[in-house]
Amino acid sequence: MPLHLDTATTHLVLDMAHGSALSFLKEKLATAKAITVLTGAGISADSGVPTFRGNDGLWRTYRAEDLATPEAFERDPRLVWEWYNWRRELIAMKQPNAAHTAVVELERRCQAFWLITQNVDGLHRAAGSRKLSEIHGNIWMVRCTRCGVVEDNRDVPIGILPFCHHCKSLLRPHIVWFGESLFAGEVEQCSTVLQRCDVLLVIGTSGTVYPAAGFASMAKNAGAFVVEINLDPTPQSTLVDVSLQGRANDIVPLLLEPL
Ligand code: OAD
Repeated sequence: MPLHLDTATTHLVLDMAHGSALSFLKEKLATAKAITVLTGAGISADSGVPTFRGNDGLWRTYRAEDLATPEAFERDPRLVWEWYNWRRELIAMKQPNAAHTAVVELERRCQAFWLITQNVDGLHRAAGSRKLSEIHGNIWMVRCTRCGVVEDNRDVPIGILPFCHHCKSLLRPHIVWFGESLFAGEVEQCSTVLQRCDVLLVIGTSGTVYPAAGFASMAKNAGAFVVEINLDPTPQSTLVDVSLQGRANDIVPLLLEPL
């Protein structure tokens, strides 16, 4: 499990088994006044939720253009709902893992904590995270295409096609699709917590979808110490301070163990 430690003046390649490297990171987290965490599909991979771009990733089998754009929903809402129903059924059987739980523990320990997740699976909430932005939405919420009301809906599967109780118009998944902007206020909230944090943990994201792909450099430019945890190198690996390669489920809990 290699650990690459880059700072302005040093470039160290250490091993996670190297006690001093681990102690250094644990201390960074323990003494940070403000911590922000950014997560992607990789944190839920150990719970059995498919990622998007890995070998078994959803976008290897399905075309995002057919299922995750406003145009796709306009063209064939039934098909889009069938796909989200299939994902709801799959996710309904999954449980948060040790990495989700460790993120909850970080929230408990640190006063100025915020979690930004790109995941729509709801597993962070299920684990107990409360200070969070689900910037791509939540698969367990629906939104009216006309009046815009957002509601929780845990039906599995949800009725095809579902309609709004208030105005009887078609409901859509409360998900940010390709070509759509983040929900109002989210960009500001994210930039606030990225610019104020002492430490940013970037866990299990390929770092290819904006705006989240720009968050590591935003925090780094504002002076944060940035740690990436991922099975593989990403486009951000060279700009972060520490890149830990391995499973989120194994590594994140280690960072919280007593010094
Ligand atoms: P991706 O599927 O693009 O990337 C998942 C990342 O997690 C990859 O870099 C993997 O190497 C890493 N990974 C896989 N298993 C891991 C594990 N057990 N521990 C640690 N890392 C692991 O997922 P995202 O980056 O989240 O958007 O994708 C971003 C967005 O693209 C998603 O939110 C989704 C998608 O299209 C929407 O659906 C709107």
